Amino acid sequence: MRKTSYLLVIAAIMLLYGCNNEADEVLPEEDPIQEEEDCTPQFPDMDVTYNNYVKGIMDQYCISCHHAGNSTGPGDFSNYNGLLTYAEGSSFYARVIQDGADMPQGMAPLPKAIRDSLDVWIQNCAPLN
Ligand code: HEC
Repeated sequence: MRKTSYLLVIAAIMLLYGCNNEADEVLPEEDPIQEEEDCTPQFPDMDVTYNNYVKGIMDQYCISCHHAGNSTGPGDFSNYNGLLTYAEGSSFYARVIQDGADMPQGMAPLPKAIRDSLDVWIQNCAPLN
């Protein structure tokens, strides 16, 4: 009986020690850069999605140069994630959407209506569906 309570005391001390140790641990704060950027759709009434619109534009105007494997241009715009890497980048607006955009390379900029729709898509947080 004595031996048992002795062991219990040891166990209790170990438990306490363990708990204290945990409490002392400094939890690393979440890196704000790693967090997903908050995005609020700017045109909630407009239904421009990757699947219902953007994919078709990429297929028609862009993937001839931006495709997987040995392609002329960087990236692979033939799928959602591949395009997103660039669509969320800082140069997309200047290269594709603004007046005087130089993509598609060697051709006239996309018609204004298409550029406006791509702009809406991005400002709506680039929805897939
Ligand atoms: C005739 C080939 C060709 C076509 C078509 C084309 N691109 Fe490009 N694109 C390139 C090349 C080559 C580069 C890399 C050189 C440069 O930055 O000018 C590039 C670069 C870019 C960049 C900059 C990428 C970066 O490194 O940040 C973007 C964005 C882009 N293209 C978007 C598009 C979009 C969107 C379309 C369709 C509307 C398109 N491109 C059509 C050849 C093309």
